[in-house]
Amino acid sequence: MDSTVTITPAGAAPAPAVPAQVRDARDRIALLSDDGSFQEFGSRARHRATAFGMERKRPAGDGVVTGTAHVGGRAVGVFAQDPATLGGSLGETHAAKITRVLDQAGRARIPVVGLLDSGGARIQEGVAALDGYGEIFRRNVRLSGRVPQISVVLGACAGGAVYSPALTDIVIMSQDAHMFLTGPRVVQAVTHEQVGPAELGGAQVHGRASGVAHLVADGTAHAVELAKLVLNYLPSSCWEPPPVAPPADPGPMPDVPANPRHTFDVRPVIKAVVDGGSFLELQPRFARNIVIGFGRVEGRPVGVVANQPISRAGTLDIDSSEKAARFVRMCDAFGLPLVTLVDTPGFLPGSAQERGGVIRKGAKLLYAYAEASVPRVTVVLRKAFGGAYIVMNSRSLGADAVFSWPGAELAVMGAEGAVDVIHRRELAADPTRRDELIARYRAEAMAPEIPCERLSVDEIIAPGETRAAVAVSLRNLAGVPAPEFRHDNLPQ
Ligand code: HXC
Repeated sequence: MDSTVTITPAGAAPAPAVPAQVRDARDRIALLSDDGSFQEFGSRARHRATAFGMERKRPAGDGVVTGTAHVGGRAVGVFAQDPATLGGSLGETHAAKITRVLDQAGRARIPVVGLLDSGGARIQEGVAALDGYGEIFRRNVRLSGRVPQISVVLGACAGGAVYSPALTDIVIMSQDAHMFLTGPRVVQAVTHEQVGPAELGGAQVHGRASGVAHLVADGTAHAVELAKLVLNYLPSSCWEPPPVAPPADPGPMPDVPANPRHTFDVRPVIKAVVDGGSFLELQPRFARNIVIGFGRVEGRPVGVVANQPISRAGTLDIDSSEKAARFVRMCDAFGLPLVTLVDTPGFLPGSAQERGGVIRKGAKLLYAYAEASVPRVTVVLRKAFGGAYIVMNSRSLGADAVFSWPGAELAVMGAEGAVDVIHRRELAADPTRRDELIARYRAEAMAPEIPCERLSVDEIIAPGETRAAVAVSLRNLAGVPAPEFRHDNLPQ
């Protein structure tokens, strides 16, 4: 049976047709669902707590609306927490309703979208509430890599209400929402630190500094639109192919400076490789020295990873390695081929990186690529040095096709550094020979023709041929069989 789903892709930045802020949980689900498709369950469920006068506060539904819906014609498990009911806090019954959604999604092999707005474990219910989160986390992990899980954070979320999203594949945060393990009042009580909610866990913090949020939205409606957009790139489960869209022409290939030491923005190059309007960048403000995102090539979803020369010269470092590693693993888990555009002088050297664990954390990206079994195409744009050459989906790590632009430099290190090491004695005797030795090293050790000779690079292609080379490669690799199950999407 051909189970390929064809979708009509939404634009990358849809204009919300409804007011930006929507507070009611059912209204939020209505924004997400195809008209009339939501089937609710558990609307009459109530908690059984009696401590702290809770027997007098037993709202129907227990602060969360749960069920299944269709989104773009595909079935999805959904829950939406209601901030107006006990602060959206999670007690035993509230948790049982969410675990039912997760269990059903696992059985039916459909994605889960959570619309979160919760103060975390319901304090009055004590360990019963904590265990409720344990039950949710266990299911988030069991579903990881099997069905896509998308978290949309729409209000002040604390404790388990942020740890569950952190276990899911994609976190979308409304710009007015907050995420923290413990809220400002608890922080002040415990540590006496005075910090406001935005400073502690606003969209600026999680969109830029922590990288927790993959996407930051203008408000509720926009956040929900982004969740729908993300679903367009992901299969219903790892056992289904990703949905296809009608093919579209790519954008024009920009002029890229030939000198590898001059910077340029890699995003127009990505847009010249993928179908027009299909690139959706994730974590765009976090670890900007690497760009990750979904796109489509000839209508089929792909994951794109590209070094970004305008940020930290496109070096790999701790944050960029972790950012890309999790993305590579997510794409691999859900069968999205990987397109990697390489333009990096190497790993960022220095004691800050070493102390921060760049060996341990850089290894995550190495591991992710080496493990990936989806079709993988690499294009070296202008330079690929040292460990970063290997890490960025090299032939030796298992790339299916490797192309290089003419004049690119591929070597253990840049010419200046290499000459200072291997010609140290000659240079000590005659420093005027440095330029000549650098030119010789460039010609004899760095040109892409050299790795072509030993099949590390398949072909040298002109920039204008990049889209065609990638598209033809992916078309010809479409028959790569998918294993029964690849792996989970462990948080990095
Ligand atoms: C019970 C809660 C609650 C909670 C909020 N409320 N959080 N009730 N348990 N966890 C209730 C409030 O009492 C209030 O009820 C209503 O929700 C709205 O809360 P406000 O504080 O008025 O709202 P706001 O000013 O917007 O502040 C939101 C907040 C704050 C920042 C989330 O409520 C807060 O700090 N809550 C505690 C957050 C926290 O530390 N949670 C961690 C739980 S531990 P009334 O009746 O007055 O309207 C946890 C363990 C998970 O989750 C394990 C992780 C590994």
